[in-house]
Amino acid sequence: MKIDILTIFPEMFSGPFKESIIKRAQKKELVEIKIHNLRDWTEDKHKTVDDKPFGGGAGMVMKIEIIDKALNDLKTKKSKVILLTPQGKVFKQKMAQEYANLNHMILICGHYEGFDERIRENLIDEEVSIGDYVLTGGEIPAMVVVDSVVRLIPGVVGNDESIKDESFSKGLLEYPQYTRPADYRGKKVPEVLLSGNHAQIEKWRQEQAEKRTKKRRADLLKS
Ligand SMILES: C[S@@+](CC[C@H](N)C(=O)[O-])C[C@H]1O[C@@H](n2cnc3c(N)ncnc32)[C@H](O)[C@@H]1O
Repeated sequence: MKIDILTIFPEMFSGPFKESIIKRAQKKELVEIKIHNLRDWTEDKHKTVDDKPFGGGAGMVMKIEIIDKALNDLKTKKSKVILLTPQGKVFKQKMAQEYANLNHMILICGHYEGFDERIRENLIDEEVSIGDYVLTGGEIPAMVVVDSVVRLIPGVVGNDESIKDESFSKGLLEYPQYTRPADYRGKKVPEVLLSGNHAQIEKWRQEQAEKRTKKRRADLLKS
C-alpha cells in the first residue's frame, strides 16, 4: 500500500512513523508512506495555502487550488482521497479494515478554520473524523488513521492471530489478559488459563469478551 499525506506541518510526522510497528512495516516494504508539504504546490513568495473566509469571520480557510494541484500530481485511478475533518464519518475499526485493502490512500490534513467547501464537494472521496472533538489540525487524525490501517496489512503485525481477537474486530472488546507471575501477592490468575486446556480457554475468553462488552460497551452488541 502507498500512503500520501498532505500537510503544512510535515515535521509533526517525524516521530510516530519512525518507531515500532509502522517503522518496520515501511522497512519490510509492506507500506510506503510519504509526507508532502502543501506549500510545495504554492507559487507565491509567501507560500500561501489559506486565505480569509468570504463573508467575514474568524480564522483562515484552506485554498482549493493548492489541494487541487497536489492531487493532480499524486492521484491515480486507484487512489482514495480522504479529507480529515471533525464533520466527517466517525472512524471505526471496520473502516480501518476496509482501508487496509486499498492500493493508495491520500490523506489531507486541514488547519485553522478548515477547508474551502469546494474541496469537499469536488476533490475528495470521503470525509473522516476521529471523534466528536476539535483538534488544531488534521495531522494527529492522519496518524491515527495510518497507524490503525497499517497494522491490519497482512504481515505487519508479527503474529496475524493477535489482531483476530482484538477489541472491535469482531464487534466485542477483547478478553482480559494476564502474564507471569501466576500469583502476585495473593492476586491470582484465573485457573483456566493455567490448565493447558485450549478448548476451555477459548470458551472462557469468548464469555469474558461478551461479559466485558456488555458491561462497558453495550452499544457494540446492539450494532
Ligand atoms: C480547528 S479544526 C477546524 C474545525 C472547523 N472549523 C469545524 O468547526 O468543523 C482544523 C482542522 O483540524 C482537523 N481536525 C480537527 N478535529 C478533527 C477530528 N475530530 N477529526 C479529524 N480531523 C480533525 C481538520 O483537518 C480540520 O480542518
